[in-house]
Amino acid sequence: MPGEWWRSAVIYQVYVWSFADSDGDGIGDLPGVRSRLPYLRDLGIDAVWLNPFYPSPQADNGYDVADYRDVDPRFGTLDDAAALIRDAHDLGLRIILDLVPNHTSDMHPWFVEALAAPPGSRERARYLFRDGGDLPPNNWISMFGGRAWTRVDSQWYLHLFAPEQPDLDWTNGEVRAEFEDILRFWFDLGADGFRIDVAHGLAKDPQMPDLGERQIATGPAPEGHPHWDLDEVHDVYRSWRALADSYPGDRVFVGEVWVQSLSRLARYLHPDELHTAFNFTFLLAPWSAGALRAAIDDSIGYLSVVGAPATWVLSNHDVVRHVTRYGGGALGYRRARAAALLMLALPGGAYVYQGEELGLPEVTDLPDEVRRDPTFARSGGADPGRDGCRVPLPWSGTSPSYGFGPGAASWLPQPAEWARLSVEQQTGDPDSMLTLYRSALRLRKELGDDGMTWLASGDDVLAFRRGPGFVCVVNVGDDPAVLPAEVRGGTLLLASGPALAGDTLPGATAAWYAVE
Ligand code: NOJ
Repeated sequence: MPGEWWRSAVIYQVYVWSFADSDGDGIGDLPGVRSRLPYLRDLGIDAVWLNPFYPSPQADNGYDVADYRDVDPRFGTLDDAAALIRDAHDLGLRIILDLVPNHTSDMHPWFVEALAAPPGSRERARYLFRDGGDLPPNNWISMFGGRAWTRVDSQWYLHLFAPEQPDLDWTNGEVRAEFEDILRFWFDLGADGFRIDVAHGLAKDPQMPDLGERQIATGPAPEGHPHWDLDEVHDVYRSWRALADSYPGDRVFVGEVWVQSLSRLARYLHPDELHTAFNFTFLLAPWSAGALRAAIDDSIGYLSVVGAPATWVLSNHDVVRHVTRYGGGALGYRRARAAALLMLALPGGAYVYQGEELGLPEVTDLPDEVRRDPTFARSGGADPGRDGCRVPLPWSGTSPSYGFGPGAASWLPQPAEWARLSVEQQTGDPDSMLTLYRSALRLRKELGDDGMTWLASGDDVLAFRRGPGFVCVVNVGDDPAVLPAEVRGGTLLLASGPALAGDTLPGATAAWYAVE
């Protein structure tokens, strides 16, 4: 496995709850993932990122960790995790785990001890307890709705997410030492890296000032915010990078960093900090040539200043699936096919969220009683939450659970139409989304590490060259567009849709060409 593999890797996100269920309890598990590794190898990806599988009360589907060095019995055992890593390596796939350092579960032994200990104790000092009386210490709000403080006695504790997710105090040396030890534990077991949850959230302004109006809005953190993107977080990542670099084999960190600007994002990607970070600018861009082009230029421009590759992502377990985001139905599906060819032709790394290779849409009509995402309950149902992008995958067959598990059970119900979208149905179908992803991932391996150059094109068209002989053209508009001169006479390698006529490309279609 050559060095710096992460600069152009395609990383497939496995949401363990929903990928494959080996024992029929309706919940995905590690043996399920393990049994499907050959599918992932055949898809043509380089690495797998596993969402949290640690012991957890699952108040936020695993982002409330009670023990960072074990596996939740729902998902298997530590031996299953070790076997999964071994099998993946045997197939040439790397494994990235999810590290949740901003908060623990309220059932983590540290927090249980903190509640039993008095104010001012060493046990409470690992978290952010503050005196308050009847009123919380300030007006900070939880990302899941409601206030970010919960009262326990004369004190309140901070939780930027659910009350079951108390925030750690990262100025505490014990916290830093513990997480370095956790990193070592998994690196020693063979993990190739970590995705870092809420990487921009660890440090808080010690004065804990009230939020101003501008800071309360959700979305990327504005500069000067008292609990997002503080300079102090960088020291943590410098020490983690030194630790990762002390291991053989190019171990990596990818940050989940929601910040206002790409220049702020780049600060996490200095050569002595994180290797890469998710690029939410691209994900958030609407389906418009101007917006996508600006997102691409800004990402490559700002990140190259610090020597970091851009990364591209269209969907994940927290956002509405992009078939639906891009308009849904036949149009959304068509745009999603074009978006896949755009993303996979860009220089840098790419993330594929499980099921996007099947063209799965968001499930928007889940019954209230099956929804698990805390945002649903905490917003009083106003926010449907993120369950709609977490519905278990259809693998095969014509009745639930469509091969997700051995029986009919699946923790969220799958739409009946998904029988048509299963891996089995799409395999071998030349027009399927799965075939498109497989072909694109195979061809992408030839692209190397070269940068990109834009070609002159119409307003609704994105056209760029990679290396000497490859051109990607995306018609983002709805009407046919004239192909750039460079590809006329070239060889069509792959197209996201049919009906390529003469010198025009149909609307919402992308095509890859080999050119002289
Ligand atoms: C980001 C994760 O992706 C999300 O699923 C989770 O709810 C929050 N962080 C809190 O850990």
